[in-house]
Amino acid sequence: MSNKFQRDHRCGLLTKENAGQEVALCGWVSKRRDHGGLIFIDLRDRSGIVQVVINPEAGESFKVAEAVRNEYVIQAIGKVSLRSAETINPNIGTGEVEVLVSELKILNSAKTPPFYIQDDIDTDENLRLKYRYLDLRRPEMQYNLILRHKVAKLMRDYLDQKDFLEIETPMLCKSTPEGARDYLVPSRVNPGKFYALPQSPQIFKQILMVAGMERYFQIARCFRDEDLRADRQPEFTQLDLEMSFVEVDDILEMMEGLVTHIFEGALGKKIVTPFQRITWDDAMDLYGSDKPDLRFDMKLIDMVPAVSNSDFKVFNDVIASGGIVKALNVKGYANIPRREVDGLVDFVAIYGAKGLAWIQVQEDGTMKSPISKFFSNAHLDKITEAANAEPGDLILFVADKPKVVAAALGALRLEMAKRRGLIDPDELAFAWVVDFPMFEYDEEEKRYFAMHHPFTAPRDEDLQYLTSDPGKVYAKAYDMVLNGSEIGGGSIRIHRKDVQKEVFASLGLSDEEAKEKFGFMMDAFEYGAPPHGGLAFGLDRMIMIMAKRDSIRDVIAFPKTQSASCLMTQAPDEVSEKQLRELHIRPSLLVKKDNLPKE
Ligand code: AMO
Ligand code: AMP
Repeated sequence: MSNKFQRDHRCGLLTKENAGQEVALCGWVSKRRDHGGLIFIDLRDRSGIVQVVINPEAGESFKVAEAVRNEYVIQAIGKVSLRSAETINPNIGTGEVEVLVSELKILNSAKTPPFYIQDDIDTDENLRLKYRYLDLRRPEMQYNLILRHKVAKLMRDYLDQKDFLEIETPMLCKSTPEGARDYLVPSRVNPGKFYALPQSPQIFKQILMVAGMERYFQIARCFRDEDLRADRQPEFTQLDLEMSFVEVDDILEMMEGLVTHIFEGALGKKIVTPFQRITWDDAMDLYGSDKPDLRFDMKLIDMVPAVSNSDFKVFNDVIASGGIVKALNVKGYANIPRREVDGLVDFVAIYGAKGLAWIQVQEDGTMKSPISKFFSNAHLDKITEAANAEPGDLILFVADKPKVVAAALGALRLEMAKRRGLIDPDELAFAWVVDFPMFEYDEEEKRYFAMHHPFTAPRDEDLQYLTSDPGKVYAKAYDMVLNGSEIGGGSIRIHRKDVQKEVFASLGLSDEEAKEKFGFMMDAFEYGAPPHGGLAFGLDRMIMIMAKRDSIRDVIAFPKTQSASCLMTQAPDEVSEKQLRELHIRPSLLVKKDNLPKE
């Protein structure tokens, strides 16, 4: 029997090859124009848009065409015909043809949408999120979701070919140690007990290695209750994987192969491997960031040798107290107006810098600067030499503790590159950042934290410092960086019980605490844990870069807002007293409801 909603062609795929054919199309009315005698409808389905034409001779169908409005769902049957030369629309793929309708049916009506269903709209994002089903009808959003589907498929194909098994791990878990806050789920049948939603499948994937699975992957949802930004969502997706009997190089090579396969397959881009590798120390030193954007140069320059022993008290004091002075040379930017320089001082202040000093190297070679008076000519020569400065260059200095200098100049470097137009939007600059410090010292809590996670293996040569000087230990950890974004991270794991014990101790975990938190894992590791390691990609971030978007919300079908809510479904929401009672929970909000942040 025939399907009464039958369509035998897709709107966006009709070409002049189809001319003369009778086609049945279904879709949404993107636009309707009434040209007196003729009615033109831009008909849209997932594949794109085609123009359909209804003329008064179509009788009943013409009346239907008069009644349709934007976003009505219709079926159109008619003949594909070539457009005359002067009516060809070069802006759409189907621009050489149109469909002369013999039969038009309304399958459903639609309210007037709150915004235009088209690309490049300037609509408030909250409105787009509330009416996400309309937002997702826009071609650019469809492209993003189609790209996402393609990438997931390419990942599965590649990993399948490399002998990885796709294995699911639980969503209702014990807390995982990725460092963010957990989302908790109360247990009805275990009063007073809670599951945690996984921050990542980390522990399970390592246990799968103990279980002899050898190569595992999963496209896994992860949950982290942390402050949100453009590249962070409370629930996001990782391509998570783990391998047994490997060292760092095996994993990096396998991942380069994977990324190459994805970018070539989805975007047709040829990626050159191996990727540049840069140590964490060098990344911080040269770019002020552990995820350097390598699409442009502009490195941070150590200025201590050049500025030492001058009359400039600010720099002298910083150096004397163990701080550093670094600079950026923004080539060809000396003629920046004073207002803009003042703005840069405010910009670095966001990152904790107490000031920003500058030297404008003028066309005649003289210096314009609020600080040049403190320096001898010999000093100035050393400064320009260190900065490799030429007439027309702007040198920007920050003096402070190394952490502040890195943060301030690292951010300023990106900002200046944007203003100078140094970034080629088509370039893909991949790199590995390797040899992360194992621990990070928290001044407030006065203790060490694992920079990656506590199962990360220290470098062999640093094992000796594990208990005596944890700050000196580097880890077999690596991040994949693309265009200044961390798109993946992982490590070789500890598989020896004694080493794991020492790491827990360095983190201030007693044997009992470690046992309570990770006892099941340590037990598993007593039954023959193979050497293993792995990595997880942030799938959303990777797609965001591939789709050239600035926010991961644009590549997630139903994302959350900055305050972690879904504007379409109104989640999170209140639940009934009955539900709470069943969960053995008595609500006692610490904050009065009226004081909670509003959307
Ligand atoms: P990590 O915590 O570095 O490692 O996470 C891996 C990658 O996930 C992405 N990512 C996020 N994306 C969107 N929103 C977030 N809130 C968010 N947080 C992280 C990043 C990051 O590089 N279990 C380890 C991996 C391993 O060791 O194998 C882990 O989760 O792109
Ligand atoms: P002052 O003598 O404090 O007015 O500073 C002289 C110049 O040095 C001004 O342009 C300040 O912005 C700059 N400056 C002050 N502190 C710092 C700092 N920590 N790093 C870089 N420049 C600074």
